[in-house]
Amino acid sequence: MPTLLHIDSSPLYGRSVSRELTAAFVTHWQASYPDGRVVDRDLNATAIPPITAEWVGANYTPEATRTPQQREQLSLSDSLLAELEQANEYIIGVPMHNFGVPSVLKLWIDQIARVGRTFAYVDGNESGHTHIDGPTEATHLEDTEKNKSFMREYYESFHISGDHSRSNRYFQGDLCIRHEPGVRDGVAEFMRDVEVLMQRRTIDEVKILLGQGDFVFIAAKGTHEGDPCVYIDLYRVEDQKLVEHWGFPEMVPPQEEWKNKNGML
Ligand SMILES: Cc1cc2nc3c(=O)[nH]c(=O)nc-3n(C[C@H](O)[C@H](O)[C@H](O)COP(=O)(O)O)c2cc1C
Repeated sequence: MPTLLHIDSSPLYGRSVSRELTAAFVTHWQASYPDGRVVDRDLNATAIPPITAEWVGANYTPEATRTPQQREQLSLSDSLLAELEQANEYIIGVPMHNFGVPSVLKLWIDQIARVGRTFAYVDGNESGHTHIDGPTEATHLEDTEKNKSFMREYYESFHISGDHSRSNRYFQGDLCIRHEPGVRDGVAEFMRDVEVLMQRRTIDEVKILLGQGDFVFIAAKGTHEGDPCVYIDLYRVEDQKLVEHWGFPEMVPPQEEWKNKNGML
């Protein structure tokens, strides 16, 4: 069931502009989702204390080893988090107060900012992977040719022809470990990113395809926003499914900047 979390943070009732706006949004939302549920959280009517050293300590203590006092410290945060996690849509009324958000909203943010729940520390990348981590030893050398033809079929059908209807053939569930900056792991995330990228790029022809065991390397020619681009991809294949990917695009410089006449591929 769609659930909307409706948050207001203005201290003004009756003449609050942001409350009027969020109320109008809720009315429209309810008309679009008659079966939907709206959870109202009025931050001016909720007593939220500032976080304390004990609260921070409790937050950084692994759940299984928290004392009863630490669990108590986090109980309000837990209930606000549950509210947040139950919802799948959000409307938050935020007046500007002294060049910032109202203090009650900041108190709420402090309660719901919980490491491992609403945010994670990652090494500069949402997936937590970099371009240079992951396995490096090729295994299953006997599968080299099989994996190369699997990857060629995948690449030509999925990326060159843009046919995304058979993703089940190429992926196992949501398993896709991604070594690209700014992306998240998973097939659903990968598909979503590809749909967006396809509006700005073409991949036209596989120029190099090399394989060793479970690793297959592909370099393909295409365009990015109309300019020539080379797409470099390294995939790892397990049981005829694509499980891991390292990739980046490289723009082809204008010909007058070339240091030789070889071209990039
Ligand atoms: C305490 C207070 C501080 C404000 N500070 C700012 C501000 O820094 N900058 C600004 O553009 N408006 C400021 N305003 C104006 C509000 O943002 C504006 O009145 C807005 O409509 C308030 O939202 P509300 O009507 O939902 O309460 C302030 C208003 C109040 C009451």
